[in-house]
Amino acid sequence: MNIVELKPDIYWVGAIDWDLRNFHGYLTQRGSTYNAYLIVDEKIVLVDTVKSHLFDEMVARIKRIVDPAKIDYIVSNHVEMDHSGSIPMMKELCPNAKVITSTRGEKGLNRHFKTDLDLQVMESGSSLDIGKRTLQFVHVPMVHWPDSMVTYIPEDKLLLPNDAFGQHLATHERFDDEVGWHTIREEAAKYYANIVMPYGEQVKKAIGALAGLDIDMIGPSHGLILRSYIGDMLEQYQRWVDHDTEPRAVIIYDSMWGSTTSMAYKLYEGLLEGGVPVSMRSLKTNHISDIMTDVMMSRAVIIGTATINNNVLPTVGAMLTYLKGLKPKKRIGFAFGSYGWNPRVLGDVEAMMDDLGWSRPVESVNINYVPDPEELREVKAMGLELARHILE
Ligand code: FEO
Repeated sequence: MNIVELKPDIYWVGAIDWDLRNFHGYLTQRGSTYNAYLIVDEKIVLVDTVKSHLFDEMVARIKRIVDPAKIDYIVSNHVEMDHSGSIPMMKELCPNAKVITSTRGEKGLNRHFKTDLDLQVMESGSSLDIGKRTLQFVHVPMVHWPDSMVTYIPEDKLLLPNDAFGQHLATHERFDDEVGWHTIREEAAKYYANIVMPYGEQVKKAIGALAGLDIDMIGPSHGLILRSYIGDMLEQYQRWVDHDTEPRAVIIYDSMWGSTTSMAYKLYEGLLEGGVPVSMRSLKTNHISDIMTDVMMSRAVIIGTATINNNVLPTVGAMLTYLKGLKPKKRIGFAFGSYGWNPRVLGDVEAMMDDLGWSRPVESVNINYVPDPEELREVKAMGLELARHILE
């Protein structure tokens, strides 16, 4: 097993999950990594662990550096099992190690493992002297669980922020500049859109709390370690927490017999004619976790559904539920579709948009059975009108 030295005596000892394709409902077409870091000082510290099925891979890396029995502390920055899942097995290898956690982390670890892990709770802002270095702990609640904590090592200008700034990306490379910003940004955006987005206000506070720190490397718990694109990532996060969008639209739709699809493409024509770039996202061919990246970027989110059993289509229902939980703000919304005998179901789509505080400057359109050419011309005109609002 290869190891990577980030800083003198600080190593990446995590694991690569090449085969991961679904992370609790989020499609991870590029796999992921669980990043754990080993700090060798007068005290030896393991920061975070890996999903339990990859425990052996992490331990093989640790053994190339030290005898695991010599580990003095295991820092658990976050309870979720992709990072803490190996702690009980690790404790068997280093029974004298204390497990460092936050106040809420103590409760979470106890609820998950129901065994004595010899926990040491660190208050936010407290630090631990490990020899030449000091580990500083800052609680960042709801980024993205109540227990979330970051570890900062001032002597190395190294921030270990766990899930923040992560990307689901399995690769042999460990550093951002070995892969390139384009790929990292793409995966960081999808990660933010699907995992971090509902907690933008808490992320903003966390960024504020970390603003004064001198940082030249960030080691997140998933994906690449940042050393060349730290400024780019912080700039992106600032935009994302502010729900800052681009003047573009995403049309998310599903259809039974093609009427809603034909309306979607007329809206597309109108928007394009109005000068607005559009992403067409049929729910038959796109997964909701992929669509979220478009939602995050787009000023207008346009949702179309056929009516079935007096309801929206199940695929659209899933999208609405997902959006309701992830809470993108400051969007222009528009609902459209076709129905047979109940014209009221677009109300569900409108209600979701209204609940999230989106504006709906153009009245929704629901067409009986099959749109005729005149109705399609009107739908296209709505696309043009939406384009005007998007570019305002
Ligand atoms: Fe919240 Fe990567 O776990």
